[in-house]
Amino acid sequence: SSNQQWGGRFSEGVDAFVARFTASIDFDRRLYRHDIEGSVAHARMLQKSGILSQDELSAIVGGLEGILEDIENDKIDWSIELEDIHMNIEARLTDRIGDAGKKLHTGRSRNDQVATDIRLWLREEIDQLGAELKRLQTGLVDLAEREADTIMPGFTHLQTAQPVTFGHHLMAWYEMLVRDSERLQDCRKRVNVSPLGAAALAGTTYPIDREFTAKSLGFDRPTRNSLDSVSDRDFAIEFCSVGALIMTHLSRMSEELVLWTSAQFDFIDLPDRFCTGSSIMPQKKNPDVPELVRGKTGRVNGHLISLLTLMKSQPLAYNKDNQEDKEPLFDTVDTLKDCLRAFADMIPHIESKKDSMEEAARRGFSTATDLADYLVRQGMPFRNAHEVVGKAVAYGLAEKKDLSEMSLEELAVFSDTIKEDVFDVLTLQGSVAARDHIGGTAPNQVRLAVKAARGEES
Ligand code: ARG
Repeated sequence: SSNQQWGGRFSEGVDAFVARFTASIDFDRRLYRHDIEGSVAHARMLQKSGILSQDELSAIVGGLEGILEDIENDKIDWSIELEDIHMNIEARLTDRIGDAGKKLHTGRSRNDQVATDIRLWLREEIDQLGAELKRLQTGLVDLAEREADTIMPGFTHLQTAQPVTFGHHLMAWYEMLVRDSERLQDCRKRVNVSPLGAAALAGTTYPIDREFTAKSLGFDRPTRNSLDSVSDRDFAIEFCSVGALIMTHLSRMSEELVLWTSAQFDFIDLPDRFCTGSSIMPQKKNPDVPELVRGKTGRVNGHLISLLTLMKSQPLAYNKDNQEDKEPLFDTVDTLKDCLRAFADMIPHIESKKDSMEEAARRGFSTATDLADYLVRQGMPFRNAHEVVGKAVAYGLAEKKDLSEMSLEELAVFSDTIKEDVFDVLTLQGSVAARDHIGGTAPNQVRLAVKAARGEES
């Protein structure tokens, strides 16, 4: 039999394989709540504009509410023949309430309907993701406060560079997430416009009220051009690019967490409940959660490329290609949700191994720059100071001694301007405390950054 939605023009039903091939109900059914929300707003607008009677509106709204309940109680058999969530719900509505159900689609197309549904759905997901991102940020700030004085080696090229405070490192992560939050909110603005009323592509001949539906669905405004409305998926691409950057940041953090839990670094401990063991090696405690987050970054990056490629050659206006927007978008949201949750749950429970971190900072001649700066303060040009300290480091490497472990006599060999007070700058604590300016690693600055992050700055 021919499809009940468009049977009129057709002389045979759709091929069974083609029905399966073109159907999206298996994945777009997750839009059911937003599809119903959009339909209710559309029906109210039709009644207000004199296109539906009050009785028809009541029947439609009541019917849709009943369908919503059935879906939530898992009492619906989704039909492949009805292709997608939109036609499944509409057919069920007509089964329930009769002819009034057939009037719901007046002045509307699935093209503006699906664009509306995705935007409503994504807006809600953005708000949930934003809250989860904030929870992670709060966890980082709290941990940074506890670790404001903890010394660790800072790295460039993954070689020991200068001592930093662990709190400062954590606040660097926080900064990445601040930008992510801002990007998410900015993206939300372009998600939150209403394509409803664009109909198939050109608008509709009925006296519709697009301001009314936009407002009742909580959109900022109706979209401005009907052709663009049904074909625009920029907002989904933009969201996935925000998501790819969030994942990139979580992946960089993951990489450091994995390194730091190794016996070779031994900087931190992750709670056992975020790790797994080995089926053969009894000693193993593997940092699976950060490893998996790092790995999942690949799929989100992939989804961004999928969507860009999906759109790149599409002529205006709607094309069936667009049905392929959903799975990458859905999986991006799901992956982000899980990864942010994992991090927000885990970060507050990181235990720093302070002795081991400090020991590592001492091992890499991390205060060499401080010694050079000391010599400059005694009047030596910086390039000469660099050379002098380089020689002292070479001596230290041969003698297996950090600069702070050398006696004044040993140091004085390299420059007779070196005096007893040199040890004030050669200590790790002295080194970090001296970098006391906006954005510097001094514990004092970490505490100020924490305050600012909490909105407590005076
Ligand atoms: N399932 C379709 C999609 O996801 C809905 C819109 C279909 N419109 C059409 N003219 N075939 O894009």
